[in-house]
Amino acid sequence: MTRIRQHVNPLTINNLSFKPDPINFNCKITEVELGCAEGEFLFNRHQAKPEHLKIGLEIREPLVKRLNKKADKLNISKYVRGIFCNINIHFKDLFPPESVDRFFLNFPDPWFKTSHKKRRVFTSKLLNQITQALKPEGEFFIQTDIFELALESMFLLESEGWQEFTNQLGEWSFMPENPYGARTRREKYVSEDNKKIWRMLYIKS
Ligand SMILES: C[S@@+](CC[C@H](N)C(=O)[O-])C[C@H]1O[C@@H](n2cnc3c(N)ncnc32)[C@H](O)[C@@H]1O
Repeated sequence: MTRIRQHVNPLTINNLSFKPDPINFNCKITEVELGCAEGEFLFNRHQAKPEHLKIGLEIREPLVKRLNKKADKLNISKYVRGIFCNINIHFKDLFPPESVDRFFLNFPDPWFKTSHKKRRVFTSKLLNQITQALKPEGEFFIQTDIFELALESMFLLESEGWQEFTNQLGEWSFMPENPYGARTRREKYVSEDNKKIWRMLYIKS
């Protein structure tokens, strides 16, 4: 089996200069996971919501190929699809305005060092793009086990996004549980380790 790298640098030229496949919006409800890895969450979510379109965006191409092969094999490729892309570059070309019902940002890569900050997926620019792409009353769910990352994300949403988004649990509040009936691979691993998970759910006004 091919060895798949744990992390790729989204800023290398290979990760900047390609065009992702377009999304076929073929269901009434569209959900998107940003950074879906091998798509475990999308397949679990399919059990809970088989009629929704579940799209995963991922920068590691071999994982996307594996995900799509599995969806083909299960005959659910109309409902579960991976798109090979660099979120920070291609997001704007993938989603027309008000086309998505729900975005999930599950355990984004923790780029800690100051020099790595520019590799961060969740930035002010992405927040803006998510805002445009969400339908009215659309949802944006984030979870992470890195407290620093949770606080930074919350700060961004509550300070820059306060006019467009309402925190479902009240301002500056975390959500204790994942309400979607589907867990991610990282979520399972972190829960088994009894580590704390920081979750937030924002609704577009
Ligand atoms: C820590 S993993 C979490 C995977 C999954 N969401 C989970 O919770 O198990 C973060 C994922 O985001 C992907 N990723 C990081 N930066 C990305 C980018 N700029 N564009 C697309 N995917 C990215 C990584 O390759 C990785 O698969």
